[in-house]
Amino acid sequence: MMKYLKLTTFFFFFALSISRNRALDPCASQSDGSDLSVIPIYSKCSPFKPPEADSMVNTVIKMASKDPQRLKFLSSLVAQKPTVAPIASGQQLHIGNYVVRAKIGTPGQLLFMVLDTSSDTAWVPCSGCSGCSSTTFSPNSSTTFGPLDCSLAQCTQVRGLSCPATGAAAPCLFNLSYGGDSSFSATLAQDSLRLATDVVPNFAFGCINAVSGNSVPPQGLLGLGRGPLSLVTQSSSLYSGIFSYCLPSFKSYYFSGSLKLGPVGQPKNIRTTPLLRNPHRPSLYYVNLTGVTVGRVNVPIAPELLAFDSNTGAGTIIDSGTVITRFVQPVYAAIRDEFRKQVAGPFSTLGAFDTCFEASSEAGAPVVSLHFTGLDLKLPLENTLIHSSAGTLSCLAMAAAPSNVNSVLNVIANLQQQNLRILFDVANSRLGIARELCN
Ligand SMILES: *[C@@H]1O[C@H](CO)[C@@H](O)[C@H](O)[C@H]1NC(C)=O
Ligand SMILES: *[C@@H]1O[C@H](CO)[C@@H](O)[C@H](O)[C@H]1NC(C)=O
Ligand SMILES: *[C@@H]1O[C@H](CO)[C@@H](O)[C@H](O)[C@H]1NC(C)=O
Repeated sequence: MMKYLKLTTFFFFFALSISRNRALDPCASQSDGSDLSVIPIYSKCSPFKPPEADSMVNTVIKMASKDPQRLKFLSSLVAQKPTVAPIASGQQLHIGNYVVRAKIGTPGQLLFMVLDTSSDTAWVPCSGCSGCSSTTFSPNSSTTFGPLDCSLAQCTQVRGLSCPATGAAAPCLFNLSYGGDSSFSATLAQDSLRLATDVVPNFAFGCINAVSGNSVPPQGLLGLGRGPLSLVTQSSSLYSGIFSYCLPSFKSYYFSGSLKLGPVGQPKNIRTTPLLRNPHRPSLYYVNLTGVTVGRVNVPIAPELLAFDSNTGAGTIIDSGTVITRFVQPVYAAIRDEFRKQVAGPFSTLGAFDTCFEASSEAGAPVVSLHFTGLDLKLPLENTLIHSSAGTLSCLAMAAAPSNVNSVLNVIANLQQQNLRILFDVANSRLGIARELCN
């Protein structure tokens, strides 16, 4: 009997310790196949988390305070001539709200790279970089690394390139501005990129030599845009130009969403809207936002404020690097005014949010729906409202584009995308959205 008891006790503790180890390490990669974890940058599993977890609303407000710079950056992408934005100093926060684990080189070197659907080129800090953080990629430790020369086709595809006009053999150097307040210089190179169990051989990326400003993601960036040098294009034989992600809520400190690359495992019955192509700005994912309803009211918005125009860059994009959805000023004002009509005031301001009200009035808050060609997105309440840390206030979680940026873009951002699967089917030029809880 005693022996039996001991044995069961042993098994009991054994089983307990296994499950406890799993519970203790929520950050261990759960990837199978090409399902990659997407980690909020301030969450438990991110190397960039602050020493102490802050409340969700404070985290969002802090992150959203970088949105104006993001909008400036996105606007510089849609402007006829990309501008180099002035460098601001003293910003502590890095742009980039979600990171994925990727390995570069052979053997693979692990980097937590920021996911950016509005950039094409991938880039990582390389050893010897001036102004980079301590985690860098060491080309010398990889047997598959190779620099790319100015004479190669890939070299002409990078923005901000500086090659000698004569076509002489020279390293393919480029200098990019990023995040609206930073810039870096890099050399185009190639190496194996490892994502979960997949390998993209000879992947072209920028090896960063020098950084100025604070917005350049410390361990690099994975561009998921549509342009020629993006991961989507470079891996087209492997992934057929299809990927999707589900962004977890910023509330979920421990959890991560997923990035799914390729056609396998994507939702079958998903409603889609056509992706619009802007030949001047091939990296951006434009969609046709045709209207917004608040409750049962179709918000009066002049069609030209939503219209896609490839000459001016106007229209609506889906972006993974902006925190809260930003509409051009008159569009936001119309949505907000209608929202305020349907909720009991008075209204106050909290950070970027100008329509905060007593949380006790929340039950009557109207549903906000975004209408795209062929697809209506009824925003879940958690994608519409955000609560103050004490829980007493509830705020409409959207804002106008900053007034100092001459923006013509509406940007559908992270907070409105969370717990949805967003399918980017570049091959068939469509974008799908389906509800999925990935917290
Ligand atoms: C990498 O190797 C090259 C050539 O051997 C050498 O010149 C360079 O200093 C090395 N770089 C680092 C960062 O170790
Ligand atoms: C990139 O170019 C700009 C403009 O010429 C320059 O001010 C900046 O210092 C360069 N950045 C780096 C990191 O070399
Ligand atoms: C966007 O939708 C509107 C309304 O249906 C339509 O008139 C317009 O042509 C569409 N724009 C594009 C670029 O498809």
